[in-house]
Amino acid sequence: MLQVARIIGGQTLRGTIQAAGSKNSSLPILAASLLTSGKVTLHGVPDLSDVRFMAEILRHQGAEVSNPKPGTWIICAQEITHRTPYDLVRKMRASICLLGALVGRLRHAEMAIPGGCVIGPRPIDLHLRGLEALGCEVKLEGGVIFVDATNAQGTTINMAGPMGSTVTGTANMVMAATTTPGITRIETAACEPEVGDLCTMLSKMGAKIRGHGTATIEVEGVAALHGCEHSVITDRIEVGTYLVAGAITNGDVTVAGANPAHLTAFLNKLQEAGVHVETGPDFIRAYGLPQHRVEIITEPYPGFPTDLQAQFMALQLLVPDRSVLTEKVYPHRFMHAAELQRMGADILVEGATATVQGGRPLSGAPVMASDLRASAALILAALAAKGETWVQRLYHLDRGYERFEERLTQLGAQIERLPADAMPKDIRED
Ligand code: EPU
Repeated sequence: MLQVARIIGGQTLRGTIQAAGSKNSSLPILAASLLTSGKVTLHGVPDLSDVRFMAEILRHQGAEVSNPKPGTWIICAQEITHRTPYDLVRKMRASICLLGALVGRLRHAEMAIPGGCVIGPRPIDLHLRGLEALGCEVKLEGGVIFVDATNAQGTTINMAGPMGSTVTGTANMVMAATTTPGITRIETAACEPEVGDLCTMLSKMGAKIRGHGTATIEVEGVAALHGCEHSVITDRIEVGTYLVAGAITNGDVTVAGANPAHLTAFLNKLQEAGVHVETGPDFIRAYGLPQHRVEIITEPYPGFPTDLQAQFMALQLLVPDRSVLTEKVYPHRFMHAAELQRMGADILVEGATATVQGGRPLSGAPVMASDLRASAALILAALAAKGETWVQRLYHLDRGYERFEERLTQLGAQIERLPADAMPKDIRED
C-alpha cells in the first residue's frame, strides 16, 4: 500500500536526536562483505529500504545474511555466484558496488547494468574504464557487463570524469584491487568519508590500503581477505537534513553522534546564512532562522554535497533575498524546484543553476516526491509553510531516512504517515 506524509507547518523544532548510520557507507560495505568467506559483522547499519534491498541481493549471490538486532547485520558469503541479474539491480543504482566485490572475490563478474535515475544520467563508464586499466577484460552485451579479471595486475588508474571523481566508482576500484596482485594506485579518487569508511572496513579484513581520504589511494593486493567486525560512520546527509529542520522552523536542533568534520562546507554555508552553529567532537547544534543570501556550488567532497542541495534550497526560501545554487555533480537535480513552486516558492532553474527569490509566503500543498533528497526537501519546506502539505511517493524517502517522520515528531513537528487513500481523492494521484 502506497503511503503519504501529512504535515501541518508552523511548529518550532527543538531537541536532540541521535544520528543514524550512513546509507552510503552501508551499501558498499555490505557489498564488500562478499570479498571474504569469513564472517562479517556490521553495526550501526540504518534500517532503510535500500539496505534491506542490498541484503536481498547478497542472499541472491549465495550469502547467508541475518539481522539479529536493529543495526546489526551478519554476512557469511562462503560460496557465491558471480552472476547478478537485471531483475535485482534495476531497483537500486547502488547495486553497482557489487561489481568490485565480485571481481575481488571471484575474479569474474556478470552483472546487469543498473538502470537510469531521475536525478540525471548516471553512467558507469569510469567504473568500466578503471577495471580495464587494471587489466580486466570487460565486455558489455545485452545490458550485461562481463568482467574477467584473471590477468589483472596493479597499475595506476585515474578515475577523473567530467564531474570530477566518482564515489561508487572509487569504491569498486578499491574492492577489486584488494586481491589484485601488485600495487594499484587510484588517482582522482573520491575523498568522501563513506569511501574512507569502506577502506577502514577493508583494512580490518586484511586489505593493505593507504591514502584513503585523499585523492590518491594505494592498494597493495593480498591473497585473500578475512572476516571482520565494523561499525559504520554516521550519516552526514541525514545530520544536515535535521539541522536544516531546526533552522527552517526557527528552532534549535542538536544531532548527537554527528561528525562536524564531515560537514565542513555545509556548516560554513549554514553559518554564512546566519544560522547559529555549535559543534563538539560528536555533536552539531543549529539554531535560529537563516538571514542572508548564500551562493551554493555542489562539488565532490570536501565541497558542498549534492545530497544536501535540495534541503538547502528549502532553507533559502526563508531568506528575503536572491540566492543561487549551482549543481556541479548532477546538473539536472532540480526536480524539487517545481514542487516547491506549488507551495509558493519563487525559483528559476536555468541549466545547472537555480535562483531562489526567498521571503515569499509558503503555503501547504499536495506535492510529489521525485527522489530521496527531494522528498526530504519537500517535508522541510512543509514544516515552514502555513497549513497542510501532503507528500506523495513517500517510498523515495524510505530509501535513505530511517523513521524520518517519527524523529521529526520527537523534535516537535506535526507530521504523520498515512495510507495513500487517506488523502482527499481530488488531490491524490491514482
Ligand atoms: N559519473 C560519470 N561516469 C561514471 C560515474 C559517475 O560520468 O562512471 C558522473 C555522474 O554522472 C555524476 C558524477 O560523476 O555526475 C558523480 O557521480 P558518482 O559516481 O560520484 O555518484 P555515485 O557513486 O553513483 C554516490 C551516492 C549518491 C551521491 C553521489 C555524489 C552512493 C550509494 N550514492 O553516487 O547518493 O549523490 O555519490 O556524491 O554512495 C543519495 O544518497 O541521495 C545519492 C544519490
